[in-house]
Parts: sequence; C-alpha cells; structure tokens
Amino acid sequence: MAAEAPSGRPTPARVRPGRPADRAYLVREAALAFGPFGSDYGARLERILERVEARSWIALSRGRRVGFAVLVPRRAAGFRPAVAAELVAIAVRPGWRRRGIGSLLLRTAAEGAREAGWGELRLWTALSNRPARRLFRAAGFAATVGGRARYPSGEPALEMVRAVRRSSR
Ligand SMILES: CC(C)(COP(=O)(O)OP(=O)(O)OC[C@H]1O[C@@H](n2cnc3c(N)ncnc32)[C@H](O)[C@@H]1OP(=O)(O)O)[C@@H](O)C(=O)NCCC(=O)NCCS
Repeated sequence: MAAEAPSGRPTPARVRPGRPADRAYLVREAALAFGPFGSDYGARLERILERVEARSWIALSRGRRVGFAVLVPRRAAGFRPAVAAELVAIAVRPGWRRRGIGSLLLRTAAEGAREAGWGELRLWTALSNRPARRLFRAAGFAATVGGRARYPSGEPALEMVRAVRRSSR
C-alpha cells in the first residue's frame, strides 16, 4: 500500500532528471495514473522512453519517487531541431497531490524544453480531467484551435499549448 504524504502543505520536494533505472517505475506509475483514461499507457510510455530524445523528470519527496513528467520533441514537417515538445505524461502519486509537486514538475519540464531549444510545449488531456486542466491553465497553457480528439476509450480529449519563453521560471 502506498504510504501517505505527511499532512499539511506544501510538501518539500525536489525534481531530478530521469535515469535508465527509473524506467520500470515510470511504466508502472503511468499504467496506474492513466488507466482510468482507458488506454494501455504503461506500454505506450515504454515505447516512448526508448526514443533517445525523450526526457523525463522524477519528483522526490524525502527520497521517495512521488511524481514524474516526460517530454518528447514534436517535429512539424520533419523540422530539425524540433520546434515543439509534447508533454506525453505528468502525474503525482495520489497521496502527494495538491502540494505543488505537479507545478514543480511542469516548471522543470518547461525549463528542460527551453534548454533543448523547443519553442513551445503541447499536450493532450481528457476534457473531463479538471485537476489537470486547471494545473495546465495555471501554468499558462491554452486550448489550441481545433485541438479536439478522442482517446481510444472514446473519452473526449483537448489539446493545449504554451510558448516556452527564454526564461520560463
Ligand atoms: C494533474 C496532476 C499532475 C496535478 O498534480 P498536483 O501535484 O496535484 O498539482 P499542484 O499541487 O501543483 O496543483 C497546481 C494547481 O492545479 C490545480 N489543481 C490541481 N489539482 C486539482 C484538483 N484536484 N482540483 C482542482 N484544481 C486542481 C489547482 O489550480 C492547483 O493550484 P492550487 O492548489 O494552488 O489551487 C495530478 O492531479 C495527477 O497526477 N493526476 C493524475 C494523472 C493525470 O491526470 N495527469 C495529467 C494527464 S494530461
């Protein structure tokens, strides 16, 4: 059973880059976090992490892994370097949510995108995922024009985008 976070907020947390040894953790946690949205996201993330350009970050609280984010470059018409990055996954373990860890992961991923020269961050989220939509809106994301689709489960999805400024902190 997952341990609970200490009560009260914020929870002290730091973020470090993902390592090869984090892969099994990422795949397992993605399957848990995104299972409710109806696709085998663990297996999908496993394939994504095999891409050399995929970048991940791990949130740690008192030495425990409590969240993660994964970015991949997105190539418009094969442009090199890629002009945008896609946030393919972000999640915080249930007992640690609402303590600023998702925001910290998002800020760190945006900084990683800036360093890699990716000019914008894009993502898809479930229309019904209010916590995620609020997190992204608070971090400066806006819905794209025409960015509507459906997950394999049939769940409506929304595309969001934000520019990566020279200094995104
Ligand atoms: C979405 C998620 C990553 C947010 O992580 P988090 O650590 O709880 O986020 P934060 O504590 O940094 O919250 C930042 C802001 O997002 C919004 N938010 C986060 N959770 C919320 C909730 N349950 N209800 C309403 N707003 C919420 C709030 O505006 C919050 O700011 P506030 O706490 O000052 O009001 C987390 O809920 C999660 O892991 N969900 C499951 C996986 C998922 O859906 N990922 C996104 C897929 S696209």
